[in-house]
Amino acid sequence: MEMKIEPRTLLGPGPSGVHPRVLQALGYPLIGHLDPQFLELMNNVQDMLRYAFRTKNQLTIPVSGTGSAAMEAAVCNFVEPGDSVLICVNGYFGERLCDMAGRYGAEVRRLDRTWGEVFTLDEVKAALEEKPAKIVMMVHAETSTGARQPLEGMSELVHSYGGLLLVDCVTSLGGVPLKVDDWGIDIAYSGTQKCLSVPPGLGPITVNSRAQGVLNSRRSKVPNWYLDLTMVGKYWGSERTYHHTAPISMNYALYEGLKLLVEEGIEARWARHLANAQQLWAGLESLGLKLVVPEAYRLPSLTTVYIPEGVDDAAVRGRLLKDYNIEIAGGLGIFKGKAWRIGLMGYSSQPQNVLMLLGALKEILG
Ligand SMILES: Cc1ncc(COP(=O)(O)O)c(C=O)c1O
Repeated sequence: MEMKIEPRTLLGPGPSGVHPRVLQALGYPLIGHLDPQFLELMNNVQDMLRYAFRTKNQLTIPVSGTGSAAMEAAVCNFVEPGDSVLICVNGYFGERLCDMAGRYGAEVRRLDRTWGEVFTLDEVKAALEEKPAKIVMMVHAETSTGARQPLEGMSELVHSYGGLLLVDCVTSLGGVPLKVDDWGIDIAYSGTQKCLSVPPGLGPITVNSRAQGVLNSRRSKVPNWYLDLTMVGKYWGSERTYHHTAPISMNYALYEGLKLLVEEGIEARWARHLANAQQLWAGLESLGLKLVVPEAYRLPSLTTVYIPEGVDDAAVRGRLLKDYNIEIAGGLGIFKGKAWRIGLMGYSSQPQNVLMLLGALKEILG
């Protein structure tokens, strides 16, 4: 049977739409993972990732695997059994961080907030005052809620208690202001299928020298062979020592996706995401819908909107997909059946997509 895939307009929480140039890059001739041409491409990918993360960190690489692989790399390389870790949980992915850190033997302390809200510096300070933590983990862009965690001042606070700041940037990298060096973030990771608009399959990560020092002075071996950054880093570093066969074609795609980002300029890209999101927010409100997250900390890349009383969640999403080829997502956790999640990420963040979705919703909701 021939494979037949109907194209969609991807306006969910990821994957986002992929630019034709990125799709074309996936079809470039396959070469070896130690071919000089590929080694040069790796250097360029790293440079462009540094640009996207706004960092000079040497250890900046795409982990082979999705965002969860990068998350796991961020956790397993820095957590040792018995380490005290403070995790800010205000959504689904904070929960996942707790699960992962616990599996690597951390003594996990949770700081909880209602889903959709964000943490203040004072709250984190109070928790650290009670007990310092080796690592403080938080999610910059909570894809389950649409909340943007402000990070200004966070690293100074965490560092003053002797800890490292680890941040999930899966739904912010390349779409929402993120300044790894200026904000003093020690470990940050992401995924390719959100604002970078590259298919899922790689997980960019960046680690500063402070965190590398912690990695190099571990008491025990990193308990995950595949994600051990001391080994993977040698393949991506000057040694180019074989560790595993890099997903060549995915790195072509990432290269092209990052090149598009560099051509546009990171600040222009942030501005585009915000402008299109503002158009979406105004349009949803003019349809009488209520947004979940206050504008002050609402994510431009992911909007959560309450489903009106009496409206059938699945039926609306089903019609959007069937009649309009548009994908949006339902809610997770406390928002299941209560809110829709609409993504405007990377190539999908375009005014015509906003207008099309608003038009379709208007028709469906009557
Ligand atoms: C905030 C956040 N963290 C982590 C992940 C996990 O990434 P992946 O699904 O690519 O493994 C996601 C995916 O949606 C996410 O939104």
